Amino acid sequence: MKEKQVIAVIGCGRIARLAHLPSFTQMENVRVKYACDILLDKAEKMKEDFPIIETCISDYKVALADPEVDVVYVLTPNYVHYTVTMDALQAGKHVFCEKPITVNYALSQEMAQEANDRGLMLNIGVCNRYHRSVEMLEEMNREGKFGNIYHVYCSFRSFRGIPGLGGAFTTKSMSGGGVLIDWGIHFLDLILYILGGAKLINVTCDAYCEMAKDMKAYRYTDMWAEDTADIENGTNDVDDCISGYVRTDKASISFNGAWAQNINQSEMFIDFLGDQCGARLTYGGKFEIYDGATLKTIQPEYHIPDMYLAENKAFLESVVSGVKNRNHIDNILESAKLLDALYTSADQKSELALS
Ligand SMILES: NC(=O)c1ccc[n+]([C@@H]2O[C@H](COP(=O)([O-])OP(=O)(O)OC[C@H]3O[C@@H](n4cnc5c(N)ncnc54)[C@H](O)[C@@H]3O)[C@@H](O)[C@H]2O)c1
Repeated sequence: MKEKQVIAVIGCGRIARLAHLPSFTQMENVRVKYACDILLDKAEKMKEDFPIIETCISDYKVALADPEVDVVYVLTPNYVHYTVTMDALQAGKHVFCEKPITVNYALSQEMAQEANDRGLMLNIGVCNRYHRSVEMLEEMNREGKFGNIYHVYCSFRSFRGIPGLGGAFTTKSMSGGGVLIDWGIHFLDLILYILGGAKLINVTCDAYCEMAKDMKAYRYTDMWAEDTADIENGTNDVDDCISGYVRTDKASISFNGAWAQNINQSEMFIDFLGDQCGARLTYGGKFEIYDGATLKTIQPEYHIPDMYLAENKAFLESVVSGVKNRNHIDNILESAKLLDALYTSADQKSELALS
């Protein structure tokens, strides 16, 4: 076995900087042989900040042709995930691809098939599955502590936060959608995970693109992908607000999401309603339990380690062991199927049956 796993990072934007390069820097058993970005100066800036990077390139095929590279991280905009992942798998590399898998379910299935046919690992960056709060809620449900969870409600709403208006985030052909595929994927995926998987029965959904119909007139407090915005000439044809209902063979799920709304609140939480107890998970933070027997609110005390480090370590270990883990694409496809169904229901303005 090699002493160190050799990694190529494709895409040197925010998630590379925030999550993955800091993880690699903390690991002893990895080399980051390549950092690739079509904008070479972004890769070079990344190398300045993370000296673990050995070489900067602008054509990812250079890394794919290098037999020393074991693992490729696909950290590009959504529409690039499919092509780079398929090319990497066909070059015999294991792949970690950021969420969402890609822009639709059909292409997601092709990616899973390719990885499985070639016996290569393909994991998806639904990082919250490695958040300690999520792990604890999943354990509680498995142990029956909620009784029966009959309904889950979630909110992923912010005041004025459309990212990169006019660029890849708000152009449907490049992103696959708006707030649902960008934020909603995290919430709905971790609900399905905590429920222990659930068979989808039917969905209904409404999607809105209201807040920046006139992009130049849009006022905002936060545009966290401002460097990719093209407010002057770009496109905005995705959901900035979404509302839906999902029936499963376990709990039903209702949700409201908004990148932007004329309500000055950011509400990011998930409520699990069980007949014995309930829980509110503050997204990215801790949870509270509401005990139906004692009528007490319990705030468990625990440490939250770095979820990105945990997901990266688990992925690299699974490459060595050959054992698929919770973020393997096979375990995320149901979430991709759900997103597609919700968008189809919104387009058709009708309920959609899934089984
Ligand atoms: N897991 C999470 O919590 C999380 C958070 C943020 C973003 N993401 C996901 O990560 C991905 C990237 O998001 P981001 O915010 O870092 O975007 P970003 O725009 O900041 O970075 C993407 C980078 O990819 C580069 N790129 C585009 N095409 C390329 C190609 N063919 N070859 C090499 N480089 C290429 C761009 O130049 C850019 O620097 C998205 O799919 C997003 O959904 C996940």
